Amino acid sequence: MSTNTNDILVQGKHVTKSYHGNVVLEDIEFDIRRGEVHSLVGENGAGKSTLVKIITGVTPRNNGEVDFDGHELPIDFPRTFVEKLGIAVIFQELSLIPGLTVAQNIFLGREPKLGKTRLIDKKKMVTDAEAIIKKYNFPLDPKAEIDSLSIGKRQLVEILKALSMDSKLMIMDEPTASLNLKESKLLFDIIKNLREEGVSILYISHRMEEVFELSDRVTVLRDGQKVALLDREEISPERIISLMIGRDLSVSDYEESVLKTVSGDTILEVKKLCSEKKFSDISFSLNKGEILGISGLVGSGRTEIVRAIYGVDPITSGSVLFDGKEITPTVKQSISLGFGFVPEDRRQQGVFMQLPINKNICSTNFDRYTRMGFVNEKGEDAIAESGINMVSIKPKDPNYIVGNLSGGNQQKVVLAKWLVRDLSILIIDEPTAGIDVGAKDEIYSVINNLARKGVGVLLISSDLPELTRLSDRIIVLREGKMIKEFKDQSITEEEVLRASSGLI
Ligand SMILES: Nc1ncnc2c1ncn2[C@@H]1O[C@H](COP(=O)(O)OP(=O)(O)OP(=O)(O)O)[C@@H](O)[C@H]1O
Ligand SMILES: [Mg+2]
Repeated sequence: MSTNTNDILVQGKHVTKSYHGNVVLEDIEFDIRRGEVHSLVGENGAGKSTLVKIITGVTPRNNGEVDFDGHELPIDFPRTFVEKLGIAVIFQELSLIPGLTVAQNIFLGREPKLGKTRLIDKKKMVTDAEAIIKKYNFPLDPKAEIDSLSIGKRQLVEILKALSMDSKLMIMDEPTASLNLKESKLLFDIIKNLREEGVSILYISHRMEEVFELSDRVTVLRDGQKVALLDREEISPERIISLMIGRDLSVSDYEESVLKTVSGDTILEVKKLCSEKKFSDISFSLNKGEILGISGLVGSGRTEIVRAIYGVDPITSGSVLFDGKEITPTVKQSISLGFGFVPEDRRQQGVFMQLPINKNICSTNFDRYTRMGFVNEKGEDAIAESGINMVSIKPKDPNYIVGNLSGGNQQKVVLAKWLVRDLSILIIDEPTAGIDVGAKDEIYSVINNLARKGVGVLLISSDLPELTRLSDRIIVLREGKMIKEFKDQSITEEEVLRASSGLI
């Protein structure tokens, strides 16, 4: 590609940002060419989302300049201005409005009007939404309410909303964090088409294979500094990872050998479990110290099953046995029996943004840090610190407000909150979505260690290398039914994928 200045759509010079004296972006130089996929990578907290917020005027920069299409951008500006310029953003924290439908969300602030009136043409809005859904072939109903959708589907709505804007630049901050393999592929095809049409994409992801597949160039950030700009031919996953974390991720980090001692004692048994429309006839058992992987494509019922076992959703028939005794799942009982549940949708279900890390980690641990009703702050800090270290939350300060952490670090707080408990069973849905490659391994060791101590783990993951690496057994679901069980530890990713997609 030639580098005529006309080819450059966005140019950042000396961009600097600090919060309360902490520099989070330091003197960053970057540019995005027309019609390229430019990836921005870095560990959790490196400054990626902050840069996105600066380009889109959400957060004012302290210093430096950002030019878009030949004009310098003001320091902060409203969303409508961004859209007019031709910039569409998919923020890491989805920005959809609950209570509104898919169509209303897609056209929020840009609703079609009835003739020359200011009244919204609701019919047209739905047909326009239908047209765009059809164009991109997304499995969505324009009239569905946002609240009724899974997090993956909500992510698809967010993507459609951005696509409907006809932009020069699309910024995608972890668009695939809650998407399954099939949906991600759909998105990649769209991205490649957009590039053909001359649209520029700023792409952020912790999944190296995606960065590798899509990028024309990659900018690497580490601790708020730009450490490299790689051209297509210089990009390799190993290279990017070592630039991101400042060291090579050795083979032993990946291949940590785990001696597992799965005992013969069953801790959980599920018999012929059914829930109206969501799943039917699900039977499996989980032993102490065992990691049971649950695999399946979207709509397969994975998340619904674990929610029912934990007591969040009702069961229509079938039984659940804990330690040999039949139980009727309720959330309260699950907590008292020592079940931990790390939900897929962590932002909505797992964290208090205005509170500091220590209060969040201890919010499920009352039994461990109160004595006769009095809060023992020292105990609280000690528990928080062990959680912070377990999953390497950055910064390590237990008093740091969670809403000010980077997206990935917020996820780690929810993980920590459950991992520090005395658990009998850990149910964990997509444990490493949004977590950087370095911290992933630490989370894997924490899960393995819990299993070694006898905790039974139910693990849902769309990340097949992760699933096959951690699980002792894997069950595969399709359309609410259990269709396959892999019993030995040498399960391959391909076998699981074939079973999930109905090929075997
Ligand atoms: N509103 C804020 N107040 C104080 N500090 C903040 C605020 N927003 C972000 N930070 C800090 O800025 C740094 C960079 O955060 P940013 O969200 O840009 O990281 P990121 O690269 O997007 O990480 P992730 O991969 O986890 O999403 C972090 O140390 C974070 O704690
Ligand atoms: Mg981020």
